[in-house]
Formats: sequence, C-alpha cells, structure tokens
Amino acid sequence: MISFEGYNDLIEKVYQSGNEHVFAFWDSLTIDQKRHLLQELSLINFDELNALYALTKKQVVPMEFEPAPFTRLPQTPEEYKEFEKARLIGIDTIKAGKVAAFVVAGGQGSRLGFDGPKGVFPIGPVSKKTLFQIHAEKIKAYEIKFGIDIPWCIMTSEANHTATVEYFENNNYFSLNKSKVFIFKQNMLPSLDEHGKLILESPYSIFRNPDGHGGSLTALHQSGTLEELLKLGIEVLSYFQVDNPLVKIIDPVFIGFHVLHNAEASSKTLKKAYPEEKIGVFVKFTNGRVGVVEYSDMPQEKLYEKDENGNLRYLAGSIAIHLFNTKFIESITKGNITLPFHVAKKSIPQYTMNGTINITGYKFEKFVFDALPLTDHNFILETIREEEFAPVKNKTGVDSVDTAQELMINLYKKWLVQKNIPVPKVVEKIEISPLFAVESDDIPDFLALPQQKEVYIS
Ligand code: UTP
Repeated sequence: MISFEGYNDLIEKVYQSGNEHVFAFWDSLTIDQKRHLLQELSLINFDELNALYALTKKQVVPMEFEPAPFTRLPQTPEEYKEFEKARLIGIDTIKAGKVAAFVVAGGQGSRLGFDGPKGVFPIGPVSKKTLFQIHAEKIKAYEIKFGIDIPWCIMTSEANHTATVEYFENNNYFSLNKSKVFIFKQNMLPSLDEHGKLILESPYSIFRNPDGHGGSLTALHQSGTLEELLKLGIEVLSYFQVDNPLVKIIDPVFIGFHVLHNAEASSKTLKKAYPEEKIGVFVKFTNGRVGVVEYSDMPQEKLYEKDENGNLRYLAGSIAIHLFNTKFIESITKGNITLPFHVAKKSIPQYTMNGTINITGYKFEKFVFDALPLTDHNFILETIREEEFAPVKNKTGVDSVDTAQELMINLYKKWLVQKNIPVPKVVEKIEISPLFAVESDDIPDFLALPQQKEVYIS
C-alpha cells in the first residue's frame, strides 16, 4: 500500500473500497500531483458511491400514475379572459421586481461536441449571436419593457465556469447590471465504470460529472445566490435551459397563472409530437402529487395509450421551462431534502497505460423536475411548440443546430406576418434581435424589409 503523510487513513479507505487502481501511476507523479489526487479522493463519499452503484442494478419502476391535468391554450371567450387576467397579474409581479431569470448551463454538451460552454455556441441564423447573447439581450429587453432590473442566475460547472465568466466579462455582461448577474458552479460527483469503480481522467485526477440540472437548487443555496435573491425581494425564479433559443424567459401569462394558483412551482407543457418523442411527460402519481416521468422510464403500453378521442393519453410533454418560488427552494435546500439520482449509461474517457480510451460507464444525475412532487400546489400551462421550443442538442438531424435555426427563422417570419409586414420572396433567412422585439407586438407597424437573402432586424 502506498503512503503519504496526513492522508494514510484516506489511502486505506480507498484500498478498502477496491479502488486502489487510482494509484496506478503513483510512482511517476510529482508531490503536487500526488496531493492533488489525494485531495480529490478526500472529497469522495465512498458509502454514497456504493449506494449509487446499487442503483445501476435496480430496475426503475415509477409509482402508478395517470396523466396530469394542465391548462390548455385558450379556446373559449372565458379562457381568453382568464389568460388576459393572468397576463395583467404577471406584469404586476414582474414590475414589482419579484422575478429573476435562472439558466442552467452546467451540462457537458457532449452530443453537440462543441469546444467551450454550450452558451457560447453561435446559434443566430443570420447574426451568429451566441445562445448566451440572445438570452442576455432578451433579459435586457424585458428590463426596458418593464422598467426594472431582472437578476440573472447562471449555473455552470467546473469544466465551463471560468470560460463562462470570461465570456461575460469580455462582453461587458451585454450591458446588464453586472452586480445582478450571478454565475455559480454546481456540484460534481465521480462517474463509475461498469464494475462500480472510479475512473481515472488523468494520472492524478478522477473523472467526475456535474450532478445534473437537478443539482441547480442545491447550487443556488450553497453558492449564496438564493440568499442574495431573497434579499433582493425575488419571489419567483424563471428556470430554463441554455440550449433553447426560443424560450420566453419572462412570460407574464405564465407568471400570472403561477401567482393566481398560489403555486410553488409551475411548468410549461406542449403536446408530444409522436409517442417516441424523447421528452418526459407530466403525470399525477397515486399519492396525488404531480411530477414528470422520463421518456425512458415510461412503460411501453402507456407510451402508446390513446384516450377515447384517439389522442395520446400521456400527451403533456415537459420542455424544462419552470417557475420556482425562492421560498420553496429555500425550504427544500435548507431542509436538506435531496432529489434522487438517476443513472445514465454513457461513454466516458478513461486514462490508461496506453493513453485515453473510451469506456462504457455510469454517470449519476439529478433531474430538476423531481422537485415538482415536493410541492403542495403547482400549475402546468400548455404552450405552442413553434413559439417556445427549439432545443440545440445535436450537430445534425433531430433537435440540432439546423432545426433550431429553422424554428427561429419561422417564428420571426410569423411575427412579421402577424403584423402584416410583407417578407420579400428573396428572403431566405431572417432574424430579429431581441433588443428590437421579444414578441410580435414589439414590432412597429410599418417596417420595410430589404430585398436580401439574409435579413437581420436590429
Ligand atoms: P442535457 O441533458 O441536454 O445535457 O441538459 P447537455 O449537457 O446539454 O448535453 P449532452 O447530454 O451532454 O449532449 C439540458 C440542460 O441542463 C443543463 C445543460 O447545460 C442544459 O442547459 N445541465 C445538464 C446542467 O446545467 N447541469 C448538468 O449536470 C446537466
């Protein structure tokens, strides 16, 4: 057994856990590298790892459930009236400075294969503006529209934190009030190989992954951001994912309904396009609580089940747009209620005598929607897919850069059509800067578009 002053108890624990292979390169390490490895190991809770590995052997059987009720898009005059009432209450809540934005951007973006934080990916179909810039400009636009500052929380992870902070610094926080942009890291935890053992990422470090978007609630608390928000009088956090350029970050109707329903958390839903679409669905468990069941955990018969009208019974898909009350987050994080971990079998780089190879292993992640069943009151609102959901997950194909840009272009065209502004036939790509308009109503009545293939309205 190796030894190192001050760390011998830890070393013994590592051997006892059957992870002595992490010392395979010990003799070739410098003193600093040895200390680095030991410090990383000292942060690992080996009992927790065993419990996590046990999850890989357990079949997930979701509790019995039925479809969750949701508020559909307005169709009747009464429903339109309700939506208008919600909009006005939402505007009051926003103008009272009670709402902040919260983007989760700590993911590894492995499917996109982009070198750098996903938020720095240039998504603007004409402008090539990045996801972060588009989100920042939307927030700026809402600030101007509602005459207030909107704090913005950005969750990163170890791998992209520094690059994210530098990006915002270099771009002067896109004219937002820097003191109200909170960038903080989520926790990481070790991934395991197929035998439940730690994986070396380099001769002196352990491969770890961020603890999932569900780690965001803990990270808000641990970073001190939640406390800052409470001090600022923020009551509602508008949660979204960095890879959705269409998200309406501050939506008065959604916020108004959330307030009207006295909800601790609210979510947006859209109708699943087809049974196999890889999004979770909103359900109501037998204990009466509402939650989301992941696509992969849906029993086959339920995935295809139809109602009496021939529509999918489990139709309400989750698009990871939520509102969370800061008091609710405080109650679960201070009460040490942890969200459960889920297992994902993925390709993981492992450092070996022959260099780095990819092995199949397990990553453990928390999902933010597991907070929903912890609420006493929550609310689900239907939204229009084309207006709010353009996930950038893959390089090509489904949910890719191409599909997201096409959806963006189509939405901007739709806004112009709604304003009776003609789009010349020659125009192939069109993009509207959020600083010009975040919705169709912001566009002036008379706007003439140039006869160009690519048009950027700013
Ligand atoms: P995804 O699950 O799509 O993961 O994250 P990803 O990292 O973007 O991409 P892949 O799966 O590696 O290809 C959905 C959202 O949740 C955030 C991501 O940044 C994205 O906004 N996320 C995910 C985190 O903030 N932390 C995590 O640990 C995981």
